[in-house]
Amino acid sequence: MDKIEIIGGNPIEGKVNISGSKNAALPILAACLLTEKTVELQNIPNLSDIHSMTDLLRSLNSEIIQGNYLRINCKVPKYKVASYDLVRKMRASFLVLGPLLTRYGNAKVSLPGGCAIGARPIDTHLFGLEKMGVKFEFNNGYVIGESKDGLKGSKINLPIVSVGATENLIMAATLAEGETHISNAAIEPEVSDLCFFLNELGADIKGIGTNYLIIKGKSKLNGGRYKVMSDRIEAGTFALAVLGCGGSIEMYGINEEIKNHFLKIFSKLKQLNFKYSEKEENLIVKNLGGSYPSVNISTAVYPGFPTDLQAQLIAVMTKADGISKIKETIFENRFMHVQELARMGANISLNGSVATVIGQKQINGAEVMATDLRASSSLVIAGLMAEGKTTINRVYHLDRGYENLECKLAKCNLSIERK
Ligand code: EPZ
Repeated sequence: MDKIEIIGGNPIEGKVNISGSKNAALPILAACLLTEKTVELQNIPNLSDIHSMTDLLRSLNSEIIQGNYLRINCKVPKYKVASYDLVRKMRASFLVLGPLLTRYGNAKVSLPGGCAIGARPIDTHLFGLEKMGVKFEFNNGYVIGESKDGLKGSKINLPIVSVGATENLIMAATLAEGETHISNAAIEPEVSDLCFFLNELGADIKGIGTNYLIIKGKSKLNGGRYKVMSDRIEAGTFALAVLGCGGSIEMYGINEEIKNHFLKIFSKLKQLNFKYSEKEENLIVKNLGGSYPSVNISTAVYPGFPTDLQAQLIAVMTKADGISKIKETIFENRFMHVQELARMGANISLNGSVATVIGQKQINGAEVMATDLRASSSLVIAGLMAEGKTTINRVYHLDRGYENLECKLAKCNLSIERK
């Protein structure tokens, strides 16, 4: 059950529901460790990464009940340990470090290690937590943190923009003694969603959406109910599929926020021949037909073009008019999809962090292998664009971040199924 078969060449025509955001849900789930009270979450996507995080929370003595809300109650864990066998499955598990340290004063979390797209160090996370009074040791692949007198508010100027480090430090600061100022904070929408959630629980976070956050520590947080934002990267993936395949798609289950993020993403691609319009709550992306020009794009932190859409954009540019240059500035090895696209006849060369894509009339179906989450969706788009049959192996990578992607696309007049 980890193959997807596609017969390409059809335009997309249909409606799809955009699921809750994986990259908002994961830190929000970790943040539930900050309170002893019950939290109810809505719009949590059904993804393997989410299951990894809930498994980790259960291993930390949390009770989790799935209803039309996800009800979570994080009781005091006997051991504040996030084990290797859980953390290795999903590096965002490292986001339990800040909550455990600030609530209990100690934590032992497996180092997440690297992944297909890069080394993914955690030095910035530790830099900020040390500023808040945590002492770290490293032992047998674990980081062990302790702060005998509890975390203290601090002024932290992050050396690099890091989504995860910003999130870990925000969570740590909500229960620290005094005020924490975080400058050079990441401003991705998912970071803001975490802040809105935490304020819903009684935290005091100011400057949300800016790169300067001020967090007044509280003695404890309450329970509450929260609906996680919808997934802007899923929406962007579908929009890029329309660009590559033709046709149009109507996306529902998205909020006003998403439309703004979406318009920011696609303002970078305005020269492409598609249009988006609103229909009540929904967003319609329509390909205006004919060929489309090449692009020169660099990925960047928000509000730049997201690294999480880079692989999908490269797939689309394989059939553009002209030569595209796409520069990856966030991760050091996020071109694993290129050699698989080349198996489909795409003409792409790599020089350091720049992919040069020579657009051509056609790419051809082939047997390919998914290597990481966004590479998987890039291969799905390429398969839909290609002439003939494409078989994508190891699609468990896809299931980490897309909820029933092939079912959603099959409802849009496309020949795609899981084997
Ligand atoms: C988050 O990863 C997302 N994951 C990623 O999405 C996303 O690509 C990334 O942010 C950038 O937007 C989740 O939110 C769960 P970073 P994160 O810390 O937090 C370096 C997807 O496909 N760095 O902003 O790990 C790091 O190596 C995933 O959904 C350090 O050097 O990203 C990278 O080069 C992939 N030291 C850059 O910063 C650190 O301590 C940005 O990483 C931390 C990061």
